[in-house]
Amino acid sequence: MNSPRIDPAAVDYEKLYSGAEVFPGVAVQRPPWDIGRPQSLLVAFERAGRITGTVLDIGCGPGDTAIHLARCGYRVTGVDIAPTAIAHARERADKCGVRVRFEVADAVHLDGFDGGVDTVVSSALLHCLDPEQRRAHVAALSRIVAPEGRLIQFCFTPADHAELYAPSPISEAEIHRLFDGPDWTITTLRTDRLEVAAPPEQMSKRFAEYGFHPELDERGSMLLPVLVLEAHRRKA
Ligand SMILES: C[S@@+](CC[C@H](N)C(=O)[O-])C[C@H]1O[C@@H](n2cnc3c(N)ncnc32)[C@H](O)[C@@H]1O
Repeated sequence: MNSPRIDPAAVDYEKLYSGAEVFPGVAVQRPPWDIGRPQSLLVAFERAGRITGTVLDIGCGPGDTAIHLARCGYRVTGVDIAPTAIAHARERADKCGVRVRFEVADAVHLDGFDGGVDTVVSSALLHCLDPEQRRAHVAALSRIVAPEGRLIQFCFTPADHAELYAPSPISEAEIHRLFDGPDWTITTLRTDRLEVAAPPEQMSKRFAEYGFHPELDERGSMLLPVLVLEAHRRKA
């Protein structure tokens, strides 16, 4: 049976924050990436000392990663295209008594951050953008990241069944096409796994219909393969 592909142009992120259907007939209360805690991959990067200076979390969603980094002592801004995500993120930060600036912004433009960001965190954003948006996003990153600043990015890969959960999975070759140039040095490019919320029963059934049985951790969260990129902005 052919898997239904997600049409990237049809995904409305704002609606996904208000109980939209992720597949026809399968609605979710919270978007699947809202796991209510920071991504373990990112926590590990922080523990390894790879976050420095001012931090921008692009496509921050409901804010748990940005809030975690602010708790660790960094000056953090989180941006997302979905106003409801930003509203949830502000509420969560207030509840935790943590100072994070959260703003609605489009990853394709990133106006107002020119040259001032030391570390960009981008978790599960790049595969939400179409090819033209990705190129514009990477150009915007080159503009906003300070010389010798760093990008830490996770995106879904074209793994088996990725079409069931990723709008536009991204290959290693495409990462090279985007970042091999005068502006960036790739220091890490490897696969790892991202945590995604335990699928509701209807979604598990839908996955099983297409022969997809995702790996689960001890909490029941899905562990889905991602490409992990760490890249440094070259000096001008
Ligand atoms: C898969 S979620 C990941 C959220 C969060 N980073 C995480 O790891 O849990 C992708 C997020 O990117 C946001 N997004 C999608 N397109 C965007 C764009 N053009 N500019 C900014 N954010 C965008 C969505 O609203 C969503 O919150």
